Amino acid sequence: MWNWFILMLILFCMFYSSKSSSVRHFPSDFMWGVGSSAYQIEGGWNADDKGESIWDYLTHNRPDKIDDHTNGDITADSYHQWRRDVQMVRELHVSTYRFSLSWPRILPNGYMNHVSNAGIKYYSNLIDELLKYNITPMVTIFHWDLPQRLQELGGWTNPEIIPLFKDYARLVLELFGDRVKTWTTINEPWHICEHGYDVEYNAPSYNFPGIPAYLCGHNLLKAHAEVVHMYRAEFQQRQGGRIGITVDTSWQEPRNRNNPDDLEASERTMQFYLGWFAHPIFSRHGNYPKVMIERIRNLSKQQGFGERSRLPEFTTEEIHRIRGTSDFFGINSYTSFLVSPNDHNNSAGFPIPSYNHDVGVVFDQKGVDWPSSGSEWLRVDPKGMYHLLKWIHREYNAPMIIITENGVSDRGGLADYARVDYYNLYLSAVLDAIEDGVNVRGYISWSLMDSYEWKAGYREKFGLYHVDFNSPQRTRTPKISARVYANICKTNAIDW
Ligand code: NOJ
Repeated sequence: MWNWFILMLILFCMFYSSKSSSVRHFPSDFMWGVGSSAYQIEGGWNADDKGESIWDYLTHNRPDKIDDHTNGDITADSYHQWRRDVQMVRELHVSTYRFSLSWPRILPNGYMNHVSNAGIKYYSNLIDELLKYNITPMVTIFHWDLPQRLQELGGWTNPEIIPLFKDYARLVLELFGDRVKTWTTINEPWHICEHGYDVEYNAPSYNFPGIPAYLCGHNLLKAHAEVVHMYRAEFQQRQGGRIGITVDTSWQEPRNRNNPDDLEASERTMQFYLGWFAHPIFSRHGNYPKVMIERIRNLSKQQGFGERSRLPEFTTEEIHRIRGTSDFFGINSYTSFLVSPNDHNNSAGFPIPSYNHDVGVVFDQKGVDWPSSGSEWLRVDPKGMYHLLKWIHREYNAPMIIITENGVSDRGGLADYARVDYYNLYLSAVLDAIEDGVNVRGYISWSLMDSYEWKAGYREKFGLYHVDFNSPQRTRTPKISARVYANICKTNAIDW
C-alpha cells in the first residue's frame, strides 16, 4: 500500500516538474497580435455609398464558385459590431490588431473621383477606439477586395493599377498615418495572382493558365514598391511609422530528404512560391529568382512564344526600385507540402500549361502523419514552420520577420482543443527558430473570429471567437483557444 502511494507521489512530482519546466518564454519585446480582413468580417457590402468589390461581384453572380454558395454581405457584421471587436482584442491581451481597409468602401469607384466619408469615418472610429485602449493598429491597405470597376480594366493585369493603387494608398496614409504606425501594402500576392488569375479559386476567378498570373505579379510588385517609395518620401519621416508587405507560403518539404532530386524540387518550389515575390524585394540583387526566369523562358520557347518569356522582365531600374521596399518581412504560413520533381516533358504546344507545370513538381500531403484540420489543404506540421523561418533567415540575410498570419481551421464548436494544440506546437517551433538566431519579432494569430473564408464560405472556421451567424447581432463567444491565447500573450510564454 505504502509502496503504491510513494510510487504515485513520485509519478505526480515527475509530471508536475516536467510540466512546469516546459514553460518557455518569448523575448521581452515580442509583439503579440490577432488579425482579420475587411471582406471577411465587415459585411455592410452596400452600406452607405460603398462600391462593389470583386468578391461582392463573384459571390453575387457566381455563387456556384463558393463551396456553400454563400457571400460576405453581412458576415460577422463588423461594420456595426466593431466596438465589440475591439473589446475582444482587449480580452486577448494582444498589443496589436491587424485588419484591412476595404478599397471600395473608401473609394467606391476605385479612384479618386468619389471619396466616401462614411467609409473614412468607419475606419477612423475603429482606429481611435483601438488607440483608446493602447492597442496598436497594423493596417493592410489591400486584402483581396479590389473595386469591381477596376477589375473591368483587367485588375492587377493592367499596369494602370499602379497609379490607381498609389492614389488610394496616398489617401489612406494621409488620413490615418497620424495614428497608424505599421502598414502592409498588400496581403498574400501569391494567392491574389495564382489563385485569382491562373486557377479560378479566388476572385476575379480567371481560368487562364500561364500568363495573367505573371502579369498580376509584375504589376503588383511595382505597385507595392511605388507605395513604399511614396511613404518613405512623403510620410515616414513626418509620421514615424514603418511599411512592408505580407507574403505567403507553405513550407515545401522534400518528399525524401535523402534524395537530391527531392531536395532540389523543394528548393525550386520555395523559389517559385515565396521567391516569386520575396526575391525581388528582399534578396541582395533583387529581380525574380533565377530558376523562375530560366524555367519559364525555356518553357515559353518550347510553347511557341519565341524569345518572349511568359514571365515579364524587369528593367534594371525597376529591379533597383523594388529591392529593399519593406521594413520587415511579413509572412503568412499555415502548413507544409511534400515535394518531388515532375519533369516529364509534356509542355510543348497549347493549352498553355499552368503555373504548377512551370514549377515542375508534384506537391501534396499524401502519406504524411500530420494531423488534419477543417481545411483540406491545411495539415499540422509545426516543423515546417521551423524550416521555413530558417530558410527565410538564410535566403534573405536575416531579415526582421513578423508572422502576420498563422492559425488553424475546424468545423466549429467552442471546445477547440485542436486549435490550442496547434498554437502551442507552432509557437514552440517559432521559439526554436528564435533560439537558433532567427529574427522573429512578432506573431499575429489568424483569426480574431470566425468569418467568411473566401471560396470555402462559412464552412471553415479559423476564429478564436465563435460567431453565431444566425443571431442578428452576430454574437461573439470566446472559444477555449481564446483563453489559452490570451494567457500566452499575457505571460509572453507558452506552457507546453
Ligand atoms: C490567408 C488569408 O490572408 C486569409 O484571408 C485567410 O482567411 C487565411 N489565409 C486562411 O485561409
